[in-house]
Amino acid sequence: MTTPRVVRTREELDAALTEGGAGRRAVVMTMGALHEGHLSLVRTARERADQVVVTVFVNPLQFGPQEDLASYPRDLDRDVALLSGAGADVVFAPDVAEVYPGGEPVVRVVAGRLGDVLEGASRPGHLDGVLTVVLKLMHLVRPDVALFGQKDAQQLAAVRQMVHDLDVPVEVVAVPTVRDADGVALSSRNAYLDPGERTCARALSRALACAQDVARDGASAPSVLAAARAVLDAEPGVALDYLALVDPATVEDVPADHAGPALLAVAARVGATRLIDNVVVDLADGARSPQHEENR
Ligand code: PAF
Repeated sequence: MTTPRVVRTREELDAALTEGGAGRRAVVMTMGALHEGHLSLVRTARERADQVVVTVFVNPLQFGPQEDLASYPRDLDRDVALLSGAGADVVFAPDVAEVYPGGEPVVRVVAGRLGDVLEGASRPGHLDGVLTVVLKLMHLVRPDVALFGQKDAQQLAAVRQMVHDLDVPVEVVAVPTVRDADGVALSSRNAYLDPGERTCARALSRALACAQDVARDGASAPSVLAAARAVLDAEPGVALDYLALVDPATVEDVPADHAGPALLAVAARVGATRLIDNVVVDLADGARSPQHEENR
């Protein structure tokens, strides 16, 4: 168990990177409040690189005016203790002025149509804020590989698109979502749920699992959506924001006769907490067969 070196400034980061040598460098970007999902990213990074840098920075640019920027959980000592067991070498935990020395940036990355749908429709500007800080952190850390959780599938798609469109020299690796025993996807915001809300929150993963089951049986895109929707509708404690079956790369709705992989993404409010989750469902060619639909 090695305690990572904690650095706060660009200069300290540069020194730590230099000391790490010329090997392959990985970055895991986080907003702290770490959980097993983050640690799984760090462990995967450890397997793929010689030096693992974890950034801990609550990025004001990606929070809307009514969102939880002020109350977002912050406990760097706890985060560093968790990272010690997971294989991080360096923790870069800058303050806001270190990342945005001139105040809020005038020039930003725009997610385009990827930022207008699903998360973007509910949280205008959110993905622009994410991409802006991700690009800045990539410039500061200069990683060979950057790891992102599949749980934030739209963020992952947007980062991949940015790396492609802006020729950012980094490999982007997706790491599967980690779930609690009750199926709920790990998220720092789960800490806001009281026990009753936690029970309601299970409906999200139940709905996704049900959709995967019917897809496995050959259901079409509309039937898969309907199956998930029925599970969510049966839980009055869940206020659905969106449920969509989309192309994992473009985040555009797939057509009713789609065959192949599609991302089933859900966002809902449980009490005051907004939760997101997703799974990939594989829509078979058979879903297109009217006979199959009749047999269901
Ligand atoms: O996924 C997150 O925690 C954040 O959106 C990220 C990538 C660290 C950017 O602030």
